[in-house]
Amino acid sequence: MLKLAQTPVEPTPVPQHVAIIMDGNGRWARARGLPRTLGHREGVEALRRTVEAAGKMGVKYLTVFGFSTENWTRPVEEVDALFELMRLYVAKDLERLVKEGVCIRVIGGRESLAPDVRDIIVRAEQRSAHNSALRLTVAFNYGGRSEIVRAVQRIAADVKAGVLAPEAISADTFDLYLYTHDMPSPDLVIRTSGEQRISNFLLWQAAYAEFIFLDVLWPDFDQAALESAFHEYRQRDRRFGGVIRDATN
Ligand code: FPP
Repeated sequence: MLKLAQTPVEPTPVPQHVAIIMDGNGRWARARGLPRTLGHREGVEALRRTVEAAGKMGVKYLTVFGFSTENWTRPVEEVDALFELMRLYVAKDLERLVKEGVCIRVIGGRESLAPDVRDIIVRAEQRSAHNSALRLTVAFNYGGRSEIVRAVQRIAADVKAGVLAPEAISADTFDLYLYTHDMPSPDLVIRTSGEQRISNFLLWQAAYAEFIFLDVLWPDFDQAALESAFHEYRQRDRRFGGVIRDATN
């Protein structure tokens, strides 16, 4: 009988924490003569595909930029549409995500959100808090600079209250005052649509992340696009400020 050689299949390493700037919804819609809001609606479909693909591929943390502190300057109908999509996304997907082991977190300023959106966020976080297969973090009304300023204010308050000594403040301490205090920094930041900017996303946390800019518009993003980003990520030599490693030393 023919015996097949037992070739052990090495699991392909994937980045532990992937952060995505989901850009290009408006251009996707414009190219089809559709209103921008339909581009965002297709963007939610791409988000669904991406959460599923990332979970299947073994990503542990997926952080997406859903609404930035600067997005308030968009026309009011577009802002309303983005909030409505957030409501619908949670209403439609929460129970499935909970069943699939996804833990949902939302980072960003909550005080300026409508009360029902705040309630939806709290419910999604509470319903999924026990899950650990994949942590899905949605940055919503999020801006990296405001997050850093908020951390400084909270550190100053602790110093003033006498619970933190100024000389005890290190980068590790600072991490603890950020929204992302209980997750690792992103290994990979992907931005779609061909733009090459960080746009106030995870400014502190992305200090040593690899950046990959893809030409695909967000509504067209899928598992193949994620795989191509991972493929490129694996070619990168992450040095974290150290020296180039080679086989001779
Ligand atoms: C950028 O495209 C995308 C956004 C401002 C929002 C991203 C939102 C979604 C994918 C859907 C809603 C999200 C959640 C979490 C429910 P753009 O409008 O800037 O595109 P453009 O640069 O082509 O105009």
